[in-house]
Amino acid sequence: MNETALYETIFKRKSIRDYDQTSIGSNRLEEISKNLQSLKPLLADIKTEFKVISPNQVTRKINNNAPSYIAAFSETKDGYKVNIGFMLQQMDLYFSASGLGSCWLGIPQPTKEVKESSNLEFIILMSFGNSKEAPYRTSTSEFHRKSLSEITNIEGANDLLEAARLAPQP
Ligand SMILES: Cc1cc2nc3c(=O)[nH]c(=O)nc-3n(C[C@H](O)[C@H](O)[C@H](O)COP(=O)(O)O)c2cc1C
Repeated sequence: MNETALYETIFKRKSIRDYDQTSIGSNRLEEISKNLQSLKPLLADIKTEFKVISPNQVTRKINNNAPSYIAAFSETKDGYKVNIGFMLQQMDLYFSASGLGSCWLGIPQPTKEVKESSNLEFIILMSFGNSKEAPYRTSTSEFHRKSLSEITNIEGANDLLEAARLAPQP
Protein backbone atom coordinates (compact mmCIF):
# COMPACT_ATOMS: atom_id res chain seq x y z
CA MET A 1 0.00 0.00 0.00
CA ASN A 2 1.57 3.32 -0.98
CA GLU A 3 1.76 6.24 1.43
CA THR A 4 -0.45 8.50 -0.70
CA ALA A 5 -3.31 5.98 -0.45
CA LEU A 6 -2.85 5.82 3.33
CA TYR A 7 -2.73 9.62 3.61
CA GLU A 8 -5.91 10.08 1.59
CA THR A 9 -7.69 7.61 3.87
CA ILE A 10 -7.16 9.92 6.88
CA PHE A 11 -9.90 12.18 5.53
CA LYS A 12 -12.56 9.51 5.03
CA ARG A 13 -11.94 6.57 7.40
CA LYS A 14 -14.30 5.65 10.21
CA SER A 15 -14.31 3.15 13.07
CA ILE A 16 -16.20 -0.06 12.33
CA ARG A 17 -17.79 -2.12 15.12
CA ASP A 18 -20.31 -4.24 13.17
CA TYR A 19 -18.63 -6.87 11.00
CA ASP A 20 -19.69 -9.33 8.37
CA GLN A 21 -18.57 -12.77 9.65
CA THR A 22 -17.26 -13.95 6.27
CA SER A 23 -13.57 -14.79 6.17
CA ILE A 24 -11.25 -12.19 4.69
CA GLY A 25 -9.30 -15.06 3.12
CA SER A 26 -5.85 -16.50 3.71
CA ASN A 27 -4.14 -14.24 1.14
CA ARG A 28 -5.44 -11.12 2.88
CA LEU A 29 -4.44 -12.49 6.28
CA GLU A 30 -0.96 -13.19 4.98
CA GLU A 31 -0.72 -9.66 3.60
CA ILE A 32 -1.86 -8.30 6.98
CA SER A 33 0.81 -10.33 8.80
CA LYS A 34 3.44 -9.00 6.38
CA ASN A 35 2.23 -5.45 6.92
CA LEU A 36 2.46 -5.91 10.69
CA GLN A 37 6.11 -6.83 10.28
CA SER A 38 6.88 -3.76 8.16
CA LEU A 39 5.19 -0.97 10.15
CA LYS A 40 7.37 2.13 10.50
CA PRO A 41 8.18 2.98 14.12
CA LEU A 42 8.35 6.55 15.36
CA LEU A 43 10.94 5.58 17.99
CA ALA A 44 13.02 2.78 16.54
CA ASP A 45 14.71 1.81 19.83
CA ILE A 46 11.43 0.60 21.37
CA LYS A 47 10.74 -3.12 20.89
CA THR A 48 7.21 -3.94 19.71
CA GLU A 49 5.26 -7.06 18.79
CA PHE A 50 1.90 -7.53 17.03
CA LYS A 51 -0.22 -10.70 17.11
CA VAL A 52 -3.39 -11.54 15.19
CA ILE A 53 -5.85 -13.21 17.58
CA SER A 54 -9.45 -14.47 17.41
CA PRO A 55 -12.62 -13.38 19.27
CA ASN A 56 -12.36 -16.22 21.81
CA GLN A 57 -9.04 -14.70 22.90
CA VAL A 58 -10.63 -11.32 23.69
CA THR A 59 -12.64 -10.44 26.83
CA ARG A 60 -14.77 -7.37 27.71
CA LYS A 61 -15.93 -6.94 24.12
CA ILE A 62 -18.61 -4.29 24.04
CA ASN A 63 -20.49 -3.50 20.87
CA ASN A 64 -17.90 -5.16 18.63
CA ASN A 65 -18.34 -8.46 16.76
CA ALA A 66 -15.09 -8.55 14.78
CA PRO A 67 -13.81 -11.92 13.55
CA SER A 68 -10.15 -10.90 14.16
CA TYR A 69 -8.07 -8.64 16.39
CA ILE A 70 -4.51 -7.34 16.55
CA ALA A 71 -2.94 -7.36 20.00
CA ALA A 72 -0.11 -4.80 20.31
CA PHE A 73 2.75 -5.29 22.77
CA SER A 74 5.63 -2.96 23.60
CA GLU A 75 8.58 -2.28 25.80
CA THR A 76 7.51 0.45 28.22
CA LYS A 77 10.17 3.09 27.53
CA ASP A 78 9.62 6.85 27.22
CA GLY A 79 7.17 7.50 24.36
CA TYR A 80 5.98 3.90 24.00
CA LYS A 81 2.28 4.77 23.75
CA VAL A 82 2.90 7.41 21.08
CA ASN A 83 5.05 4.90 19.22
CA ILE A 84 2.40 2.14 19.33
CA GLY A 85 -0.23 4.67 18.25
CA PHE A 86 1.94 5.77 15.33
CA MET A 87 2.51 2.16 14.24
CA LEU A 88 -0.98 0.73 14.64
CA GLN A 89 -2.63 3.74 13.01
CA GLN A 90 -0.75 2.68 9.85
CA MET A 91 -2.78 -0.57 10.08
CA ASP A 92 -6.05 1.29 10.70
CA LEU A 93 -5.43 3.32 7.53
CA TYR A 94 -4.31 0.25 5.59
CA PHE A 95 -7.51 -1.62 6.56
CA SER A 96 -9.72 1.25 5.50
CA ALA A 97 -7.77 1.83 2.28
CA SER A 98 -8.24 -1.85 1.40
CA GLY A 99 -11.99 -1.72 2.06
CA LEU A 100 -11.87 -3.50 5.43
CA GLY A 101 -13.26 -2.23 8.72
CA SER A 102 -11.21 -1.68 11.88
CA CYS A 103 -11.50 -0.08 15.31
CA TRP A 104 -9.07 0.81 18.10
CA LEU A 105 -10.09 -0.92 21.33
CA GLY A 106 -8.86 0.34 24.68
CA ILE A 107 -11.54 -1.38 26.79
CA PRO A 108 -11.52 -5.01 25.57
CA GLN A 109 -8.58 -7.10 26.72
CA PRO A 110 -6.84 -10.21 25.43
CA THR A 111 -6.92 -13.31 27.65
CA LYS A 112 -4.22 -13.94 30.25
CA GLU A 113 -2.70 -16.57 27.92
CA VAL A 114 -2.30 -14.02 25.12
CA LYS A 115 -0.85 -11.44 27.53
CA GLU A 116 1.63 -13.99 28.83
CA SER A 117 2.62 -15.12 25.34
CA SER A 118 4.84 -12.05 24.85
CA ASN A 119 7.88 -10.81 26.79
CA LEU A 120 6.60 -7.28 26.15
CA GLU A 121 3.70 -5.49 27.85
CA PHE A 122 0.24 -5.71 26.28
CA ILE A 123 -0.81 -2.16 25.25
CA ILE A 124 -3.96 -2.14 23.08
CA LEU A 125 -6.20 -4.06 20.65
CA MET A 126 -7.50 -3.25 17.19
CA SER A 127 -10.40 -5.17 15.64
CA PHE A 128 -10.62 -5.81 11.91
CA GLY A 129 -12.62 -7.69 9.30
CA ASN A 130 -15.14 -7.29 6.49
CA SER A 131 -17.38 -4.37 7.30
CA LYS A 132 -21.16 -4.54 6.88
CA GLU A 133 -21.13 -0.93 5.65
CA ALA A 134 -18.54 0.96 3.60
CA PRO A 135 -15.76 1.95 6.02
CA TYR A 136 -15.76 5.53 4.70
CA ARG A 137 -17.26 8.92 5.31
CA THR A 138 -18.22 11.02 2.34
CA SER A 139 -17.09 14.32 3.86
CA THR A 140 -14.84 15.49 6.72
CA SER A 141 -17.90 17.26 8.16
CA GLU A 142 -19.12 13.77 9.23
CA PHE A 143 -16.22 13.45 11.73
CA HIS A 144 -17.30 14.38 15.28
CA ARG A 145 -14.26 16.51 16.13
CA LYS A 146 -13.48 19.92 17.61
CA SER A 147 -12.44 22.62 15.14
CA LEU A 148 -8.74 23.41 14.70
CA SER A 149 -9.10 26.73 16.56
CA GLU A 150 -10.49 24.85 19.58
CA ILE A 151 -7.50 22.53 19.85
CA THR A 152 -4.51 24.65 18.83
CA ASN A 153 -3.23 28.18 18.33
CA ILE A 154 -0.46 27.07 15.98
CA GLU A 155 -0.73 28.86 12.66
CA GLY A 156 0.61 28.03 9.22
CA ALA A 157 0.55 24.23 9.47
CA ASN A 158 -3.10 23.54 8.77
CA ASP A 159 -2.56 20.53 6.50
CA LEU A 160 -0.58 18.70 9.18
CA LEU A 161 -2.91 19.77 11.98
CA GLU A 162 -6.03 18.76 10.06
CA ALA A 163 -4.73 15.19 9.76
CA ALA A 164 -4.11 15.14 13.54
CA ARG A 165 -7.54 16.65 14.25
CA LEU A 166 -9.29 13.87 12.32
CA ALA A 167 -7.28 11.03 13.92
CA PRO A 168 -9.21 8.40 15.95
CA GLN A 169 -9.71 9.38 19.58
CA PRO A 170 -10.68 7.39 22.70
C1 LIG B 1 -6.74 4.81 22.17
C2 LIG B 1 -8.13 4.54 21.66
C3 LIG B 1 -8.95 3.67 22.34
C4 LIG B 1 -10.25 3.38 21.86
N1 LIG B 1 -11.03 2.46 22.52
C5 LIG B 1 -12.24 2.13 22.02
C6 LIG B 1 -13.05 1.12 22.65
O1 LIG B 1 -12.66 0.51 23.65
N2 LIG B 1 -14.25 0.82 22.10
C7 LIG B 1 -14.70 1.44 20.96
O2 LIG B 1 -15.79 1.10 20.50
N3 LIG B 1 -13.96 2.40 20.33
C8 LIG B 1 -12.74 2.75 20.83
N4 LIG B 1 -11.97 3.69 20.18
C9 LIG B 1 -12.45 4.26 18.90
C10 LIG B 1 -13.02 5.61 19.11
O3 LIG B 1 -14.18 5.48 19.90
C11 LIG B 1 -13.27 6.30 17.75
O4 LIG B 1 -12.06 6.57 17.15
C12 LIG B 1 -14.07 7.58 17.98
O5 LIG B 1 -15.39 7.25 18.31
C13 LIG B 1 -14.08 8.46 16.73
O6 LIG B 1 -14.77 7.81 15.69
P1 LIG B 1 -14.08 7.53 14.29
O7 LIG B 1 -12.85 6.68 14.55
O8 LIG B 1 -15.14 6.78 13.51
O9 LIG B 1 -13.71 8.84 13.68
C14 LIG B 1 -10.71 4.01 20.67
C15 LIG B 1 -9.87 4.92 19.99
C16 LIG B 1 -8.59 5.18 20.47
C17 LIG B 1 -7.69 6.12 19.71
